[in-house]
Amino acid sequence: MTQKNQDRRSFLKTATAAAGATFAVGQTVLAEEAKGANGRPGVGFIGTGGRCGAHINIVNTLKKQGLVEPVAVCDVYGPRLRAASQKTDNAKMYKAHEELLQDPKVDIVCIATPDRHHAPQAIDAVRAGKDVYCEKPLTHWSQFDLAKKLGEETAKHKRIVQVGTQYMADDNYAKVRKMIGEGIIGKPVHVELGYYRRGDWGERMHIPDPNAKPGPDLNWERFLGDAPKVPYSVSRFFQWRLYWDYAGGPATDLLVHMFTPVFCLLGLDFPHRVLGGGGTFQYNREVPDQCNIIADYPDGPSVVMMNTLSNHVPTDTKIRGTDGVIMWKSLGSKDCKGIRIVPFGKDKKELFLPWAGMGSTTRLWANLIDCVKTRKQPYSPISAAVRVQAPLSMAIIGHRENKVTMFDEKTQSVKMV
Ligand SMILES: NC(=O)c1ccc[n+]([C@@H]2O[C@H](COP(=O)([O-])OP(=O)(O)OC[C@H]3O[C@@H](n4cnc5c(N)ncnc54)[C@H](O)[C@@H]3O)[C@@H](O)[C@H]2O)c1
Repeated sequence: MTQKNQDRRSFLKTATAAAGATFAVGQTVLAEEAKGANGRPGVGFIGTGGRCGAHINIVNTLKKQGLVEPVAVCDVYGPRLRAASQKTDNAKMYKAHEELLQDPKVDIVCIATPDRHHAPQAIDAVRAGKDVYCEKPLTHWSQFDLAKKLGEETAKHKRIVQVGTQYMADDNYAKVRKMIGEGIIGKPVHVELGYYRRGDWGERMHIPDPNAKPGPDLNWERFLGDAPKVPYSVSRFFQWRLYWDYAGGPATDLLVHMFTPVFCLLGLDFPHRVLGGGGTFQYNREVPDQCNIIADYPDGPSVVMMNTLSNHVPTDTKIRGTDGVIMWKSLGSKDCKGIRIVPFGKDKKELFLPWAGMGSTTRLWANLIDCVKTRKQPYSPISAAVRVQAPLSMAIIGHRENKVTMFDEKTQSVKMV
């Protein structure tokens, strides 16, 4: 194995080993001591829309098991804020995330705001000494520098950040990663993965109140954050996933789920060259409804990510090596039962590992709560998410500019050719 390969394969191990002791940050308390009401970690929710509903249900269930306590909620839209507070037994309401972060009862922050708020809010959270569940994607496509900054700040403040790619919640990956490192499929050289769906309902989100207007119950400025300042639009506010200013389409919304487990299995680092194809072929929206990416890594593999929202017929994920293949059915589909490992050669035996937790957001939460105590790295760590974000952001930037994007290892930045 070359030195480069060894470095690449040891990167995640190193990242895992980097979990350390907990330190006080500014005026905050040690995470081990910060245990909200009844000695359990207190959870504060930032962004209480659709996805947060699932998080609140899970945290309420974990509360019954004595593991956590929902203590605070924050949103820029009053009706959702009040509904979330009701669902959490009247958790304290905040209209600004900075205020929630000052609440000493909050130990873990769950961030489920639109994409471009993830990194700024998570950076504020780790600086305030909080541990974080941060929804995917790690950042908006235009904020790769913020993704790196969040990685640095998380390490600096010794925080635990679980990134919300729930397909990472499976113990098999650690076993398979070890097998790949030991050469079970030879040198991994080619990957294919995809996400297919027929319909764009996920992006064409529901408008609960067509007459909603900026005012005391709707803070448009806070919704925009660092996005271009544009006049209020009810569609932009509620259906933000349709617009480039707030979302990146299938790359950052969907392919991130499929790619993250592969990335971690292979212990990849940053890509060398990325090509982003596709377009808006069927639906009336700004972001593409078809997205195809080729991400070439310096010493291989070449990763091909495929997607359309016009046809749901799935593809298997395949990691092809020089001496075998690792594959699974389309993640989330009912016939996706586990990982198949097929080494080539008459004397070699095929292996099948049934999934053990893959896709479970509850498991991601339980793992986070455990890591908050033990200070171990979680299933879906920030070190991986920063690197996963790179090809996704590069593909979108290149697609928008009709260019190929290259990753400059020295400056850790993206350049166009
Ligand atoms: N892991 C998954 O499977 C999964 C599934 C769905 C959504 N998500 C992610 O969760 C995030 C939220 O998606 P959603 O569907 O819940 O969107 P949503 O629009 O339903 O909810 C977002 C909420 O954030 C609020 N908000 C906006 N700006 C804010 C700010 N500055 N401070 C506080 N609150 C603010 C909005 O008012 C809204 O209530 C997205 O990034 C999405 O990618 C992940």
